[in-house]
Amino acid sequence: MNIAEILPRTLFSGKTVFITGGGSGINLGIARNFASLGANVAICSRDLAKLERAAAELRELGHQVLPVSADVRDPAAVAAALARCEAELGPASVIISGAAGNFICEAEKLSPNGFKTVVDIDLLGSFNVARAGFEQLRQTRGSVIFISAGIAWLPYSHQIHAAAAKAGIDSMMKNLALEWGRYGIRANSIAPGYIGDTEGTSRVAGGPVMDAVMATTPLGRLGTTDDIGQAAVFLASPLASFVTGTVVVVDGGHYLEGSAMLNAAQRALSAQAT
Ligand code: HXC
Repeated sequence: MNIAEILPRTLFSGKTVFITGGGSGINLGIARNFASLGANVAICSRDLAKLERAAAELRELGHQVLPVSADVRDPAAVAAALARCEAELGPASVIISGAAGNFICEAEKLSPNGFKTVVDIDLLGSFNVARAGFEQLRQTRGSVIFISAGIAWLPYSHQIHAAAAKAGIDSMMKNLALEWGRYGIRANSIAPGYIGDTEGTSRVAGGPVMDAVMATTPLGRLGTTDDIGQAAVFLASPLASFVTGTVVVVDGGHYLEGSAMLNAAQRALSAQAT
């Protein structure tokens, strides 16, 4: 199903959407959904070659696409990327903070720098993006959407670094909703479940862990990048004009029963490896 078969193709015409991590996976799926509904999109990540390939695909939807490289850990680079977005496409009405880093590692083997690296990308990076985008969002009375995960509230073995970062993101999101509501800015998170054909899922849920994911997802399938793109469209659209400070879980119900079984599968994998 294409989102433009349900919603008007002009829903985001003339609007600018800025997306970090937009060169691949979930964030590219989000970009595709907004572009399908008329938005001009800026996609931002470290890898310009990957962004250029994604931009070529997105341009086929008929609107402006700006690939712009920046490491979200670098506030000056993020500010420059957002300034270029504003200069070329106009001020952002929607900012999606989706750039993330992750790997599987047991807590006792994780180096302090490994922990810091993921927190820097996910949490500090999300603050950098929201902070640098504030003036544009104030101008457009726009919406900022963070990409969180169920690990923010359910412990998941081998994910102490990412879990801490995602919990911090959701906490920050609620504070921004509180502080920026007076400017008409809404802040929300999406917590995706396991999304097929993405780097994130292949990094954290290979082999038997994937069997456990499928066995503990009530809707019985992996998610798609469109599932997440559609949730982002909802949150950014006038349909959600009174929705702020919340986490929208898009995981087929996995979080309702997934944690314990996944943890057992992850521990079994570690036992095999040692
Ligand atoms: C243990 C590791 C590690 C691993 C890196 N480190 N990989 N430790 N196991 N597999 C440690 C390194 O040893 C180093 O610490 C520190 O982390 C920094 O590593 P670098 O490689 O120098 O960092 P960098 O080049 O900045 O790369 C960041 C990265 C990388 C996160 C490590 O994987 C990356 O860039 N990923 C981006 C794409 C990505 O991960 N996407 C998936 C997101 S999925 P020392 O002490 O040695 O210096 C997602 C889903 C969440 O977010 C929800 C899941 C349920």
